[in-house]
Amino acid sequence: MRVPLLDIPASYETILPDVKKNIDQVIQSGRFVLGPIVEELEEKIATYCETKYAVGVSSGTDALLISLMAAGVGEGDEVITTPFTFFATAGSISRLGARPVFVDIESDTFNIDPSQIEKSITDKTRAIIPVHLYGQSANMNPILELAQRNNLVVIEDAAQAIGSEYEGRRTGSMGNYGCFSFFPTKNLGGFGDGGMVTMSSEDDYNQIKALRVHGSNLKYYHKLIGGNFRLDALQAGVVLAKLQYLDQWTEKRRKNAQTYNQLFKEKGIADQLILPLEVIPRHVYNQYVIRVNNNRDELRSFLTENNIFTEIYYPLPLHLQDCFASLEYKKGAFPESEKAANDTIALPIFPELAKEQLVYVTEKIDEFIKKFGI
Ligand SMILES: Cc1ncc(COP(=O)(O)O)c(C=O)c1O
Repeated sequence: MRVPLLDIPASYETILPDVKKNIDQVIQSGRFVLGPIVEELEEKIATYCETKYAVGVSSGTDALLISLMAAGVGEGDEVITTPFTFFATAGSISRLGARPVFVDIESDTFNIDPSQIEKSITDKTRAIIPVHLYGQSANMNPILELAQRNNLVVIEDAAQAIGSEYEGRRTGSMGNYGCFSFFPTKNLGGFGDGGMVTMSSEDDYNQIKALRVHGSNLKYYHKLIGGNFRLDALQAGVVLAKLQYLDQWTEKRRKNAQTYNQLFKEKGIADQLILPLEVIPRHVYNQYVIRVNNNRDELRSFLTENNIFTEIYYPLPLHLQDCFASLEYKKGAFPESEKAANDTIALPIFPELAKEQLVYVTEKIDEFIKKFGI
């Protein structure tokens, strides 16, 4: 048996008729950048995320960058975020000349620990970027409260978390800006790069729209310095065709997570592994990440030898990356992030997985534990 980490073509039978229809429509229209299909997607994503507005952009990375630009973050400013995330979260802060200020994560959700944020706020702090890692919302109430009290902008990095919720609110609707990615591995992925920024303030909406096209509302007249952050119409067509299936795919991801949990319990190994907890419903399981005390890399190699493909998100926390050496963080600065980098492993969780594949993964992990221990 073979269990890939993700099987994008598995969804083609479902999606291709609508994808082809939308692509054809774009080709016939001759409008390949922005245009009506991007606007239609923006409206639908805003509705889905429960915001007033959404602006299609070129990637999740650019969604973060343009939000930071709109928030006026620049040279000498500080932005608080987590070191246990994809590089783009902190990279976008640095690209604007600002300093990423890292705060450690909670051990159960892998998300920024709100109780440690306040001590990192200085008079240079401009914004907080909570990341809803793996598809589970960060604990937003204390973050929003701290932001309000200290006059900080909140930019939600919801790249992995479209459709996830916090106390009934959709991620991307709680902060000033919500940033989404349509990278193919995301729960709502295109056939290339793409992203979206959500917001409910009309001023923010107008500003992000201007920044997306080099800061101009009126062609060739520039009030702001923006960039080319536009979304392709072809990508919008793909994402639009897929959006109608998102909830059903999310339910399948959630069901796969429950099945894994159940199978690990039945095998009596649920306590040796640390299984992912849904601390904050609704978790959308972009990733299903387990923890093992020992032999993580050996387990991964064993699974690969048995045709089960896994990933480590992420093997080196951002404060220890070479490119951030000038921030002068030392090893040990964020123990929970460092521990997670060493003991986590993401198992296949995509919607089209068959029950036999889930069984096979749990059997092979059980076999490894019996042979080598963890
Ligand atoms: C947490 C997080 N932030 C930002 C991004 C950047 O998104 P993109 O790859 O679309 O630029 C990603 C995805 O790769 C991500 O997982």
